[in-house]
Amino acid sequence: MNIILLGPPGAGKGTQSAGLVERHGMKQLSTGDMLRAAVSAKTPVGLEAKAVMDRGELVSDEIVSKLIDDNLAAMDAGTGAIFDGYPRTAAQGEQLDGILAKHGRSLDHVIELAVDVEALVERITGRYSCGNCGALYHDTANPPAKDGVCDACGSTEFKRRPDDTEETVRNRMEVYRSETAPILPGYEARGIVTRVDGMAGIDEVAGAIDAILA
Ligand code: AP5
Ligand code: MG
Repeated sequence: MNIILLGPPGAGKGTQSAGLVERHGMKQLSTGDMLRAAVSAKTPVGLEAKAVMDRGELVSDEIVSKLIDDNLAAMDAGTGAIFDGYPRTAAQGEQLDGILAKHGRSLDHVIELAVDVEALVERITGRYSCGNCGALYHDTANPPAKDGVCDACGSTEFKRRPDDTEETVRNRMEVYRSETAPILPGYEARGIVTRVDGMAGIDEVAGAIDAILA
């Protein structure tokens, strides 16, 4: 099973991917996470991507498609892929088709997380993650069970993303509207898009996604 989680910044792509990995043993392929890892490691890709990401603009199609290709090449053929934050442009959509074909895979579902853009600003500016294992939290909607301690690994170190300021978030929303949303009709024409209410609670959204995959 290979699926795309599509939705604007803060729609819950990362949160829902983590649940799918846990419940179904799929692998999350988040180009945002891969790029942030490259930035931290100061690799050539990371050095090129950092300023672009800090502005909330898009890193080149070639860079992100190569990351996806390399990751799929390293994956077991039987493990399902969750594309989180990729594809984001028409060119990436075409490149993904080629990459999937090359690895003997095909796209089963595009799940659109439909959300209210204004509410997302609040979601994103309240987001933080575990500095050790990356588990995602939110100041009010999704705090750890024990204040200041990661549910997943027990770490007490947390961090916030540098591109999670209100100004950058609004730019990322605009980039989504102009570059990414236009790829949906092409998938709709293939009959593989299902829309889920991304404003529902995290568990409810997870249930709706599981119903699609069942
Ligand atoms: P990326 O990391 O992909 O960021 P994004 O698309 O802006 O999406 P986010 O990660 O902000 O949101 P999300 O949907 O994962 O939400 P989350 O689950 O965290 O990309 C970052 C940058 O990298 C881009 O701007 C670009 O520069 C570059 N990049 C990445 N991919 C690229 C590509 N393919 N091409 C070119 N450039 C690329 O949830 C958000 C918060 O809300 C969390 O705190 C969570 O706990 C909470 N929450 C989640 N669901 C719910 C819910 N149902 N109810 C209440 N709260 C919830
Ligand atoms: Mg994310």
